[in-house]
Amino acid sequence: MIQIDLPDLNATQALADRLAPHLACGDLVALEGDLGAGKTEFARALIRARTGDATLDVPSPTFTLVQLYDDAAGCALWHFDLYRLQQPDEVLELGWDEALDGLVLVEWPDRLGDLAPIDRLTVRLVAGPRPDARHVTLTGHGRWAARLADLPSLADAASLRSA
Ligand SMILES: Nc1ncnc2c1ncn2[C@@H]1O[C@H](COP(=O)(O)OP(=O)(O)OP(=O)(O)O)[C@@H](O)[C@H]1O
Ligand SMILES: [Mg+2]
Repeated sequence: MIQIDLPDLNATQALADRLAPHLACGDLVALEGDLGAGKTEFARALIRARTGDATLDVPSPTFTLVQLYDDAAGCALWHFDLYRLQQPDEVLELGWDEALDGLVLVEWPDRLGDLAPIDRLTVRLVAGPRPDARHVTLTGHGRWAARLADLPSLADAASLRSA
């Protein structure tokens, strides 16, 4: 488990930037946190880093539930927001099985129920001491436990602080 203080939005974006090159096709990142916690901001920065397009339009999948991108490594990059899912198996109609071959970012992963893959990296954002501050906890599940432990420090920039 890695815990980091994010003093502002730049820090959240910097963390996503730093994580991006360590991901691969077949990986799933579960983005947890309340409404407005910063899940979409984190995903947006990660998608821009993976596509190599710093100004790419990355709308929130609030209403579409999923947005699809191609990243620079040739991975299909799927960004889900499952807040509005009524039942886990509705995700199958959104292309879930195909998505799992690509790189998957999921907001509100609790909506997946038993469909949540065991191998996943959980990024949990919670409010910090000031309006723009967040606290993030990264947890590796399944095969991600060892991978997270092997990652070089994600918190060594001045803008990020390891707790
Ligand atoms: N350190 C920070 N990290 C992330 N977002 C921040 C931070 N500080 C302020 N914000 C603001 O908080 C808001 C986060 O919104 P965002 O849409 O990313 O939340 P969300 O977790 O995706 O919510 P939802 O569950 O509704 O999808 C944005 O307006 C963003 O500018
Ligand atoms: Mg969101």
